[in-house]
Amino acid sequence: MISYVTYKIIHYVGIFTMISALAAFIAMTASSGTPLVRVPWAKRLVIAHGAGLFLILLGGFGMLARLDITHQLGGLPGWIWAKLALWTVLGVGITLAKRRPEWSGTLLVLTPILAFLAGTAALTKPF
Ligand code: HEM
Repeated sequence: MISYVTYKIIHYVGIFTMISALAAFIAMTASSGTPLVRVPWAKRLVIAHGAGLFLILLGGFGMLARLDITHQLGGLPGWIWAKLALWTVLGVGITLAKRRPEWSGTLLVLTPILAFLAGTAALTKPF
């Protein structure tokens, strides 16, 4: 049986992979003069971002199962829904970076703030 700590490590590896790939992709769209299809790193970073997102979910739901939160009456608690919403926004972030290179600065500032909020939601469980 996979332990809580192992799921947490998977969660963290996913977070670091996703955030670094997203930040690199944003910086690339901001500075690249050529269409992204011709930049080999674009594809690699999109794959790394997707793999990171997957590991975050795997680790997150794995921890939920170990904490026995999935069986709670009334469904998942609010802080998990908040984290899922932040996860979705960070997931869409890569599409936004591709379509709107002029938003790069904002996206680069927003990315760690959203990640910080997702971490704080788990730490403080405010709702
Ligand atoms: C980009 C999105 C996310 C980030 C940056 C993030 C970040 C974190 C961090 C830093 C922790 C450790 C908090 C602590 O020290 O206890 C944590 C814990 C946790 N996260 Fe996430 N998370 C994200 C998405 C998710 C999602 C989508 C889920 C739901 C499936 C989830 C479920 C959990 C759970 C269950 C814990 C453990 C809480 C506990 O031990 O009490 N996270 N997350």
